Parts: sequence; structure tokens; C-alpha cells
Amino acid sequence: MHAEHTGPKDLSVLDCIAQRRAVRSYLSDPVGRPIIERLIETATLAPSAVNLQPWAFAVVQDRQILDRLAADAKSLLLAEPPAPEVLGSALPALTHLREAVAKPDYDLFHGAGTLIAIYAVATHGVPDCYLAGENLMLAACALGLATCPIGLALPILQRPEVKAELGMEPEWTAALPIVVGFPGGETPPTSRRPPLVTAWL
Ligand SMILES: Cc1cc2nc3c(=O)[nH]c(=O)nc-3n(C[C@H](O)[C@H](O)[C@H](O)COP(=O)(O)O)c2cc1C
Repeated sequence: MHAEHTGPKDLSVLDCIAQRRAVRSYLSDPVGRPIIERLIETATLAPSAVNLQPWAFAVVQDRQILDRLAADAKSLLLAEPPAPEVLGSALPALTHLREAVAKPDYDLFHGAGTLIAIYAVATHGVPDCYLAGENLMLAACALGLATCPIGLALPILQRPEVKAELGMEPEWTAALPIVVGFPGGETPPTSRRPPLVTAWL
């Protein structure tokens, strides 16, 4: 299935860490269920505090539902400034991106055909979900797939009706939405500041 695009690339974990990009252009080809299952299984190999494994995954591949979620997410973002606890570290990005996001052709999911929303099922489970999400993104990279975390989708994923639609309990917290797909082209590398190492005693 989609052998022309995917398949293990024989990359080391260091290669995947270095080569993973937040990809914002996708082919329309769907990613098959076995691959998504593999990504989710790999996500669950992440460490978690006291091995609580406080995560749940919702997969959305239905084009109509993706489009509706993207449109509703956008309206919600632009209508109500999200609370800092909802958007977390993505909050400054919204201020920065507001103009771009407001454009009619801005697709919050960048045209990807799969959304995997990771929810924390325990009160303090969000950091563990981030670790699971990074595992998922690195595994996708190793399989020749592209991903992008979509923090801007968090407010819509916290809505009770959306949680219900995705089979999530009302008290669970949307932690990290990630879109997955076949890359639509090359994504140039991003820069990093030198590490801030404040002590080496
Ligand atoms: C928590 C979090 C939320 C993010 N939210 C978005 C988002 O809503 N939309 C988007 O296009 N990229 C989003 N990103 C991707 C970052 O913009 C990207 O990781 C960063 O610019 C560095 O680029 P790189 O991942 O290609 O190295 C998010 C990343 C993280 C970690």
C-alpha cells in the first residue's frame, strides 16, 4: 500500500530526530489503517510517570469531518481568545499567526488526510502525551510520512460536543493534535538556537 511513498527508510533514531519537520503540505493519498495503528502503538511505547500511560487517541480521516473541525477550530480561535491553559505553548503562536489564520484559504490541518488527536486521560497526563506524540512523529518520519503538531486545534478539541464525537470522556484533556500524511514536497530545515546550558557542575 502506497509503497511508492512509504516504507521503512532505514533511518536511525538520530536521523529521524534530525530530519523530522513540521510539514505543512500534503498529498491527498490516504494513509492506510495498518500504518496508523503502527504509529499509535509506537506512541504508546513512550515513557510515562509511574507507567500510567494516560493517553487516548482519536483518528479522523473522514474528509468532511476534517474540514468541519478545521473550519470550526478556526472560527473558535478567531472569535474567542483561547485561555492560556487551553493553548499552552501555542498561545504566542496565535498572536503571531492571527492574520495568516484569518485568511479564507488557511487550512488549520494543512490539507493532511489524517488527524490523530492525543488526549490525556489523567489529570497530570499532558506531558506524557507530548512524549507519546514525539514518538509518533519520529516513527512517521522513519516510515516516510510527514507530520505536524496542531496546537491551534486544541480549543475545538476541548469542546464537549467534539470530545463526545471522538469518544473522549468530558474530563479528559486534549493534549496534542497531530496531522499525518504523505509529504507534498520538501520542507526546509528550521534553525535552532544553541542550547542554553546554565550549569555543568
Ligand atoms: C505544541 C506545539 C504546537 C504546534 N502547533 C502548530 C500549529 O497549530 N500549526 C502549525 O502549523 N505548526 C504547529 N507547530 C509546529 C511548530 O511551528 C514547529 O515545530 C516549529 O516551527 C519548528 O519547526 P520544525 O518542527 O519543522 O523543526 C506546533 C508545535 C508544537 C510543539
